[in-house]
Amino acid sequence: MKGIILHGGHGTRLRPLTHTGPKQLLPIANKPMSQYALEDLKTAGITDIGIIIGDVHPDKVKEYYGDGQKFGVTITYIYQDQPKGISHAISLCKDFVGNDKFVVYLGDNVLRKNLVDYVKNFQNSESDALILLCKVDDPQRFGIAELGKTPGKIKKIIEKPKIPISDLAVIGIYFLTPKIFDIINQLKPSWRGELEITDALQLLMDKKNKIEYDVVTGWWKDTGTPEDIIHANKLVLDSIGTENQFLIDADSAIKDNIVIGNGTEISNDSFVVGPAIIGKNCKIGPAVKIGPYVSIGENCILKNCTVEDSIIMNDCTINTTTNLSCSIIAHGSEIIDSKTKKNQFLLGERSNIRI
Ligand code: G1P
Repeated sequence: MKGIILHGGHGTRLRPLTHTGPKQLLPIANKPMSQYALEDLKTAGITDIGIIIGDVHPDKVKEYYGDGQKFGVTITYIYQDQPKGISHAISLCKDFVGNDKFVVYLGDNVLRKNLVDYVKNFQNSESDALILLCKVDDPQRFGIAELGKTPGKIKKIIEKPKIPISDLAVIGIYFLTPKIFDIINQLKPSWRGELEITDALQLLMDKKNKIEYDVVTGWWKDTGTPEDIIHANKLVLDSIGTENQFLIDADSAIKDNIVIGNGTEISNDSFVVGPAIIGKNCKIGPAVKIGPYVSIGENCILKNCTVEDSIIMNDCTINTTTNLSCSIIAHGSEIIDSKTKKNQFLLGERSNIRI
């Protein structure tokens, strides 16, 4: 089986974070979110992976994943010139897929459960698609499936219904066969100008093909907004172990689930409360309180600050008595208390400050 990771789209709801790179490279627990997709595919034995790149810094995706060797997979890049929908992106993969069955994984989706059993079952099944469903509180945001009266049957699949037909979202991981390419050829763009995956699945059903589903338990996250990313960070941190943990100063109050990279120094008047992850070569202290639910990248300097529920990327300097909460601070940013009474802000387009 082959794998396809969607890495395009404009990520408008995540600006300014997406002015300088695709949203799927934003880190969750110090790892680009699309790497979770790649690792899920690899764990399920899928190592021939196509990554669909769009026009938001595709160079950065290629630079990070390269030919895949570092990650134990082989990567083929497929270029989608405009974000014309998931089905459109899939249609570009016809040659890459050939006669194989394949899994499409949206690079901005993170799923707790691994795909091992799904891949095995789909490989041996007669079905033309397997989709995963998850109960959600806000069905208007997703593709939604209505189940039929016969057990195991889906009645209808609709994209973002105004009046929800159920609370079962179709999550962004689709197990498909090459039959889908013919189906996609018959689709018309939706109201948002996209070839929708949900329309392709509905048409597949209308043409009497067999679609299976499973309702996933545990969590799944579509990371469309900053709040979603902070929440995904929390969910992933909750499941990290303490591997790579190295003993830091005994006076620092440390709870469970803390990963700290080599070369990171924490002063003995600073505290880390897990779950938290801190990358390599950071200098933490004096008087810093980190956590819970904080991810800090590499080479950061933190002084005099309290940070919770937040993501701080590489090479940041934070030296402020203002508490940071539910914040996402991108690479190379500085937050420093002003020595004079004047506050200075240097913010990129669509920045968001609440003080
Ligand atoms: C897309 C799909 C939708 C699916 C969702 C999962 O939505 O169109 O059916 O439920 O991904 O993440 P979009 O991210 O384009 O709003």
